[in-house]
Amino acid sequence: MTINLPVIQTPIPPDFIDLGVGEPAPSLLPMDLLRQAAEMCFDQNDPAFLQYGLEQGNGYFRQALAEFLSKGYGLPVDSSTMLVTNGSSMGLYLICSLFTRPGDLVFVEEPTYYLALRILADHGLQVVPIQTDRDGLVIESLEDKLKSYHPKFLYVIPTFQNPTGQNLSQERRAKLVSLSKEHDFIIIADEIYHFLNYCCLSPEPFAAYINDGHIISINSFSKILAPGLRLGWLQSNSETIRRFVTSGLLDSGGGLNPFTSAIVRYVIESGGLAANIERLKAEYGSRITEMEKSLHMHLPMAEYVSPQGGYFFWLRLPNVDTIEWQKTARSFKVGFNSGVRFSSQKGLREFIRLSFVNYSSAEIEEGIIRLKESLDEYGAGA
Ligand SMILES: Cc1ncc(COP(=O)(O)O)c(C=O)c1O
Repeated sequence: MTINLPVIQTPIPPDFIDLGVGEPAPSLLPMDLLRQAAEMCFDQNDPAFLQYGLEQGNGYFRQALAEFLSKGYGLPVDSSTMLVTNGSSMGLYLICSLFTRPGDLVFVEEPTYYLALRILADHGLQVVPIQTDRDGLVIESLEDKLKSYHPKFLYVIPTFQNPTGQNLSQERRAKLVSLSKEHDFIIIADEIYHFLNYCCLSPEPFAAYINDGHIISINSFSKILAPGLRLGWLQSNSETIRRFVTSGLLDSGGGLNPFTSAIVRYVIESGGLAANIERLKAEYGSRITEMEKSLHMHLPMAEYVSPQGGYFFWLRLPNVDTIEWQKTARSFKVGFNSGVRFSSQKGLREFIRLSFVNYSSAEIEEGIIRLKESLDEYGAGA
């Protein structure tokens, strides 16, 4: 008898369409690419990657990644500015551990990535929201809050934001860097969606500013390769990198994820990473179009700005309490994330986040039809 034991974080019943889930499509996880890279790595017959790793992370991997980023960002990236992590979540966690104390105050965008809020809460940090609009974080709102508070850091998702999908404008990026210097707070830029641009170029990354003030750019392979790798990186100035490298965690356990990074080195060097990103962009780009078409046809009351990259649509449904509606939606076998989850103030009840990456075009349309039918039912009972 075969027993099915749990393996993944978010199992979805086969007849349920969960448009809330922000995970890559399982069919696009690159099994062959990683199998070949693992073979190349083991074929070297050098067991060094099974040893405690260098605190900063495998030098060959960082070199390969630096070359990839130099091309992708269009600016020279030096591997010495980089620390290998277990992903963006771990990067944020490590920063909180080393640069804050419980009770410290930090700024976040409103709305922001809801699980980042959980990490901040785990560290006992007080969170102050900064307003956003179509161009990302509103600088006037930031300046206003800086009159009353001195934050340890600002956590921002500047490119294809989660959940709004919007980009922080170039002008605001420059202003933000100058404010962080003037008011002495760290900018943590979570750039995890930077390489998932579908129709136009991504804005300049915050990684470009790491020697201009106190900036930490965090990034990950979760969205461009596979989340199960638990592999990512951060970039910052040499003093900040030194602080990470000399931490007790890295001193005791060595660098993070030497095994996986040694394998992913070959994915990058073979051109496999670049090819995989192109494949994802082609697929996700067509799914975005499908979601937009379905929304237009079946949920015309939804207000949104079309995303040009990333994973998500952020919809406003005027006068709909999305927490209440969610219960009805579940009975129609469709899921979404209510805006409340992304609000540090428990607001944004009229908003929902939908992901377009996890389902085929036909399933996306079916999901939107179910949303419409469940909304009709909920509205009739309200
Ligand atoms: C903005 C943002 N940061 C971090 C993460 C998690 O990243 P990782 O898998 O690298 O920990 C996600 C995943 O949805 C995300 O959207």
